[in-house]
Amino acid sequence: MKTRSVVSAIVFFVVVAATALTAQESVSVSADLALTPPMGWNSWNKFACNVSEDLIKGMADAVVKSGMKDAGYVYVNVDDCWQVSRDANGNIVADPQRFPHGMKAVGDYIHSRGLKLGVYSDAGSKTCAGRPGGLGHEYQDALMYASWGVDYLKYDWCNATTQDAKASYANMRAALDASGRPIVLSICEWGTAKPWLWGADVGGNLWRTTGDIQDRWADKREWRPGICCNNGVLAILDQEADLYSYAGPGHWNDPDMLEVGNGGMSDTEYRSHFSLWAMLAAPLIAGNDLRNMRPETHDILTNKEVINIDQDALGRQGERVARNGDLEVWAKQLKDGSRAVVLLNRGSGEQEITATWEDIGYPNTVSASVRDLWQHKDVGKFTGKYSARVGSHGVVMVTVKP
Ligand code: GLA
Repeated sequence: MKTRSVVSAIVFFVVVAATALTAQESVSVSADLALTPPMGWNSWNKFACNVSEDLIKGMADAVVKSGMKDAGYVYVNVDDCWQVSRDANGNIVADPQRFPHGMKAVGDYIHSRGLKLGVYSDAGSKTCAGRPGGLGHEYQDALMYASWGVDYLKYDWCNATTQDAKASYANMRAALDASGRPIVLSICEWGTAKPWLWGADVGGNLWRTTGDIQDRWADKREWRPGICCNNGVLAILDQEADLYSYAGPGHWNDPDMLEVGNGGMSDTEYRSHFSLWAMLAAPLIAGNDLRNMRPETHDILTNKEVINIDQDALGRQGERVARNGDLEVWAKQLKDGSRAVVLLNRGSGEQEITATWEDIGYPNTVSASVRDLWQHKDVGKFTGKYSARVGSHGVVMVTVKP
């Protein structure tokens, strides 16, 4: 009797221990990535194919020196055109002229500055710029990336012909995880196959919701006749407005990288662009030259009060809660129960815009403290509503705390 119960006790403990081990093993290395929207810099918007080791190292230095790192920017992402071919064994080869010491050296440098390395590839046979894509080399590429210390992969969708998007990205996530290195997966499928419906299921940490951003305020425009489309800030905003329920810790809608500081918009418009991206809980990936920023650009990109809204731990994407012609009110619930609110004026003249408490989710009888996140000042206590005059293409961005 006694022996039997000792044996059953041993069997019981072995089973419990084995179950615990299996459970642990099944937790993927990428489980805790991007719990808040990723922040960093990417080469494409400003430099396109003109990337090199010197450029990327210089930008890593600038992230640190400019205070961007202290503000939360951590990824330094090399977009298209770092790769030129595959060797006889199928290994991806970095451009030897532009990256003479190879990608691991770039990764080591970035890591030595306390930052993280991102690279770009494509789920199809070729990248959008015609460089070798990842198709058929997913596991091989993932191992190579891990050996370089890659922390973030942007995976594009050019030349994917009849591939299934969900299956293609699931395959790449499995390959990245099999490398044993936690790597953020940025799905760049432009919204065609509605990645918000499956992106999180396949382990994507963010997914582009639209075609590319261009450095302008409004409008969706064809690249060439019949080839749709690139987007101004407002065009992207409108395409993302209804997707708020799909965003959350670890998995974000991506309205594309920032154009702040690239010269096509006014500082007012860049302030709106940055504020709206924070309201959308968007990845904040700067796309300008950080080595020689104007003070106005620097102050937009490093506005910690606005960044805090983007990075709020609750991970809600803001919603458009009221709209009257060109005038809009956006609200985002924050972890402490307060709200971030943006009053947006899309029109051509200054206008007064009002956010009512009812619109932003409070009873109208509540008294709440309002703080202006661009003026960096408490503006007082208000009951039922807050109104402000907002310039053309501008925003007023506040927190409302009952
Ligand atoms: C696509 C992507 C862009 C950029 C380019 C690179 O257009 O959407 O963000 O990565 O490819 O060729």
